[in-house]
Amino acid sequence: MKLYILVGARPNFMKVAPIIRILEGGDYPDVEYKLIHTGQHYDFDMSKSFFDDLQLPKPDAYLNVGSDTHACQTAKAMRRFERFCLADMPDIVVVVGDVNSTLAGALVVTKLPPKLAHVEAGLRSFDRTMPEELNRIVVDSLSDYCFATTCRDARNLEREGIGIERIHLVGDVMIDTLLYYLPFAKYDGVPEEPYALLTLHRSGTVDDREVLSSMLKAMSKLVGDITIVFPMHPRTKNRIEQFGLGGYLKGCRVRRPVSYLESIGLMNRARLVMTDSGGMQVETSVLGIPCMTLRDSTEHEDTLSAGTNMLAGTDGDAILDKARSILGSDKDNRSYGFRRNAARNIMEILCGRR
Ligand code: UD1
Repeated sequence: MKLYILVGARPNFMKVAPIIRILEGGDYPDVEYKLIHTGQHYDFDMSKSFFDDLQLPKPDAYLNVGSDTHACQTAKAMRRFERFCLADMPDIVVVVGDVNSTLAGALVVTKLPPKLAHVEAGLRSFDRTMPEELNRIVVDSLSDYCFATTCRDARNLEREGIGIERIHLVGDVMIDTLLYYLPFAKYDGVPEEPYALLTLHRSGTVDDREVLSSMLKAMSKLVGDITIVFPMHPRTKNRIEQFGLGGYLKGCRVRRPVSYLESIGLMNRARLVMTDSGGMQVETSVLGIPCMTLRDSTEHEDTLSAGTNMLAGTDGDAILDKARSILGSDKDNRSYGFRRNAARNIMEILCGRR
């Protein structure tokens, strides 16, 4: 069986790592796989550092797509990936997550012979202003294998009319990766004193001057209570410069984007994580670190019901109040239930062993 695994952006890399580790382990000798990188993310900090930390092999193909508008980025990835498939047609293509490269891969494969497998299917924030939500809905509707992480996600798929024969509840590959790499987490540069970790990168948060300025203003006050470590995504850096908001960051420890092992190290010792990321809501929940999601919606509803994550919205004053309240409490945050071995479940299903 010929299997292609398509990646493109930072949050994809940790999700394919456990599948590739299993394939490299020799348990599936009949599977010949290729790793294809669209190049949606291309800076060392956004891509290569993850390949290094996660011991991912050099991609078999790099499509050099880069940054662009949604349509142009997706179209470029589609054209180049289609050409690659036509030259050497696989049997199955695995796409992961909800970025534009995931969408591009799905749109290409659905009109070609290979089967399409979507890892992390069924996540829904029910907020159609998010480009990722639109990508998820389209990719799931086209996938032959929808690999869901939780029962809630599987139910979301059923509700959208996806036949149960296409839905497989396998667990979360991102948790496979977290548990495997946690013993190797890097703690260089992690503050000795208690600190809060801040990450912001979503277009809905950082492209809106009002929202970004309200949040950063809150952070400029919160630094009076606790050290704030802020690894900055390139999109966020560009916007802060463009909007002239750098003054609010004076007390924060701003860093370049961190690698995977640095990221889990920073999360694991944080007193509080404040983020608009999807993955970190789950990672902090597994680690037992309180998380405030700086958005109005989440695709990880289970983290809210477990009480390990809260939706804190985007208003700076409200965020400040909530952060202070968490810092003042000593609630035990270890109540998130999860499945293990998602990658193994995925491979068993793709190989028809289950
Ligand atoms: C993408 C995903 C988002 C994911 C995020 C993680 C989509 C629709 N969005 O958003 O779901 O959470 O990745 O980072 O696919 N840039 C660089 N270097 C890079 C990559 C990007 O400087 O290696 C800058 C460019 O200025 C670019 C901007 O970041 O214009 C945005 O990059 P893009 O790939 O469009 O989306 P992300 O914001 O990274």
